[in-house]
Amino acid sequence: KENIINRAINVLDANFQKGGFTIPSKGLYPFQWKWDSGFIAVGLAHYNIDHAKKEIETLLNAQWDNGFIPHIVFHTDDDSYFPGHDFHRSDLHPLSSKKYKSTGMTQPPVTAFVLQDMLNIVDDKEDMLNFIKGQIDKVYDNHVYFYENRDPQNEGLVYIYHNWESGTDNSPVWDDIWDTMNPPEYTFERKDTTHVDASQRPSKREYDHYLYIIDIAKQNNYDDAKIAELSPFLVQDPLFNAMLIKSNKALMELYELFGGNEDKIAYLRKNQERSIAAFNQKLWDNELGAYVHYDMRNDKPIRHVSSSSFSPLFAGIPSKERAEVLVNTMMDRFGGDDKYLCASFDPTDNRFNPRKYWRGPVWINMNWMLYRGLKEYGYKEIAARVQNDSIELVERDGFFEYFDCRKDTGEEIRKGYGGDNFSWTAALIIDLLK
Ligand code: DGY
Repeated sequence: KENIINRAINVLDANFQKGGFTIPSKGLYPFQWKWDSGFIAVGLAHYNIDHAKKEIETLLNAQWDNGFIPHIVFHTDDDSYFPGHDFHRSDLHPLSSKKYKSTGMTQPPVTAFVLQDMLNIVDDKEDMLNFIKGQIDKVYDNHVYFYENRDPQNEGLVYIYHNWESGTDNSPVWDDIWDTMNPPEYTFERKDTTHVDASQRPSKREYDHYLYIIDIAKQNNYDDAKIAELSPFLVQDPLFNAMLIKSNKALMELYELFGGNEDKIAYLRKNQERSIAAFNQKLWDNELGAYVHYDMRNDKPIRHVSSSSFSPLFAGIPSKERAEVLVNTMMDRFGGDDKYLCASFDPTDNRFNPRKYWRGPVWINMNWMLYRGLKEYGYKEIAARVQNDSIELVERDGFFEYFDCRKDTGEEIRKGYGGDNFSWTAALIIDLLK
C-alpha cells in the first residue's frame, strides 16, 4: 500500500508545473484541465496542502467576469496539443479572461465538493477554512453562471453544448447526435495520436464534429443564448448535472459553516430543490432502470446506459428505491465476474469498445465517485469491489488514463490505455487507499 502511494506521489510531483498547476499527463495533455484539477487537488491534499491550494487557485484565477470557468487554461504556449487557443479563440467572448488564454467551453463543476473534501482531509482545519473563505465566492459565481445562462427553458437542468464539456469525450452516447450532423471535413494535424495509439483515441471524423461545434460557438462569440439557439449539440447530461448538484450541496454546507450569507444560501437552495426534482423527472428511464442523457436539440432522450448513468448516486439524487433499481442495472450489465467495475459504457451494447477512451474502458475518477455513492447508499460490498478493482487495475497496468475492463483480454501483455502517469489516477488512488 505504501509503495503504491509513493509511486502515485511521484507521478503527481513530476506533473506539477512551475506555474502552480498539474498537467494531466506529459505529452498528451500539457495544460490545466478543469475537472482534472479538482480530482488532483483531492489527492494533493493528503500530502502537499500547498500544491492542493495552488491547484484550485490557478484554476479559479482564470475565471471569466461572468463566472464561467473554462475547461482548459493554456498557461503556456505549447504547440504539442490540438486544438490550441488559436483555434478556440475564447477572447471573442466580451467577458473572457484578459489575463489567461483558455477554451470557451467548460467541464463538470467539481470544484465545490473538492473544496469540502480538502477540508475533510487536512488536519489544520482553520488554515483550510481560511483558504476556502478566499475562494468560495468565485465558486458561487460559477454556480450562478450555470443557473442563469445554461438553463434557457428554466427547467432546473443545465445544458452542455459540446462533448468535451461532458468530460466523457467520445462516449457512444454522442453517436446519436453525430448522426444528425454533417460537418465539413477539416484539414488539421492531430497531436493526440502522436502520443497515444490511434486505436485508443477518437476518430478523425469524430474530430470534425468536435471542431464544427466550436466553429458555431465562435461565430456567435461564445454567447450562451445564441449557443442554446443554434448549437447542433445541446444536451442535459446526467454526469454534469449530478456534479453541479453535488457541488451545490457542498457550497451550501460550506457557507453554513461560515455563517451569514443567507441570501446566497437561499438562492442555492431554491435551485438545488428544482434541480433534483427535474433530474429525477426528466433524466430517469424507467425501462432501462437508469438515468440517461437528454438531447435538447432533437428533443428526445438518448437511451444508453453509461457510467454517467450511475453518477447520481454520488450526488444523493435517487430515492432508496430508485437507487436499488439503478444498482441492479449496473450489476446486470456491467458487473459480470469476468469484468472489473465499472466500464464507462454498457458492455451489453454493440457500441461498447473495451479499449477506446470513453467507449468502454474503466476510468478511476468515475470509480471514485461510484465508490463514494455506493457507500453512501449502504452498498458496502459493491463499493468495496469498486475500490479493490480500481487498485488492482493500477497494480496490474500502472497509473494509466483508462483501463480495459476485461479480466482476461486474451493478450499476453496487458496495459492500461491513453496517457501514462496520469494525474487523477494517481491522485484518486491515494484517496482510495487512505
Ligand atoms: C482531449 O483532447 O481529448 C481532451 O480530453 C479534451 O478535453
